[in-house]
Amino acid sequence: MGIKVSAVGHALGERVLTNHELAQHIDTSHEWILERTGITQRYISDHKNTSDLGTQALKNACERYNLDPQSIDAIIVATMTPDHFTPSTASLIQAKMGLNPLKIMAFDVNVACSGFVVGLDLASALLESKRFKRIAIIGAEVFSKILDWNDRTTCILFGDGAGAMIIDYDESAPPCVCVNHSEGDLDGTLRACGVPLLQEDARPLILSMQGKDVYRFAVDVIPSVMQECAQKAKLTLESLDHVILHQANQRIMDYAMKRLNLDLSKSISNIAKVGNTSAASIPLAISMALLDGSLHHGESVMVVGFGGGLSYGAASFTL
Ligand code: ACO
Repeated sequence: MGIKVSAVGHALGERVLTNHELAQHIDTSHEWILERTGITQRYISDHKNTSDLGTQALKNACERYNLDPQSIDAIIVATMTPDHFTPSTASLIQAKMGLNPLKIMAFDVNVACSGFVVGLDLASALLESKRFKRIAIIGAEVFSKILDWNDRTTCILFGDGAGAMIIDYDESAPPCVCVNHSEGDLDGTLRACGVPLLQEDARPLILSMQGKDVYRFAVDVIPSVMQECAQKAKLTLESLDHVILHQANQRIMDYAMKRLNLDLSKSISNIAKVGNTSAASIPLAISMALLDGSLHHGESVMVVGFGGGLSYGAASFTL
């Protein structure tokens, strides 16, 4: 049994913020950001929250593929920047799409930048259970609202956006093979503070990150989790048509591909245009690559997530 990808769509924050503009406000330069990360610009959402971008991405998927939104049985939203603790972003998207409450299950997963791969893992298992026929997995983030815009080590990296992928149960389709892992991070290597137990411990809701530690973690786990996933799927990494890594840093992506001796041209990248959009980055990259012709339906792909948690995972499937 397998999954069939029925529709893909995306949405971006409405304002482009270039490296040059950032350099007018903080001590950085276009050249530094480009050389260290591959990013030239990112999109910022000034007026739309995470559920708005998620709704826009899901609508875009339905419109592009002429698919009836009412046929969706479940919505899983991967995000670490929800509108609220509750209601979930998925429930808000359900309401904004006007989807039948009697038919639909909706919930969020918070696994930072690995969230989309975890969502895909969950959705595949739910489809396999045969209780659901069609599930929308949405990665959506408005990271700009949790950034310290004076911290040049973090604010240059992230952008706002959402990507949606709708998948169906299909007996005859190739399987979706997923692996996911978590290495509990008690040290706050990558953290956005929540609600403390004691009021005096309250800190702003901003992101803090030990960038070098995350970098080392990423280049270590990406090759191993890709090999693990390939082994489980009984395929070779060389046989894949494309690899879509979480778009955290172009250097991380290139390093991982080189370490696995994989053709760099197989790695899909949109980080130059959109920055790191956390849980949205994988479906956003897929959606944009399908539109510009660098990805096609029917191709075999592996997606790889890594980030806060610290978490990492991979999934191989046919697009
Ligand atoms: N502009 C100019 N200089 C800067 C900037 C900046 N924006 N940021 C840092 N620097 C300086 C530092 O202060 C340092 O100066 P010093 O040598 O005088 O101390 C120098 O540049 C080098 O800094 P490093 O931190 O060593 O730079 P590095 O090459 O490691 O790049 C970066 C930093 C881009 C953050 C990198 O470590 C990285 O990409 N890490 C991974 C981060 C990541 O992917 N996070 C997301 C995970 S996904 C999730 O779950 C949200």
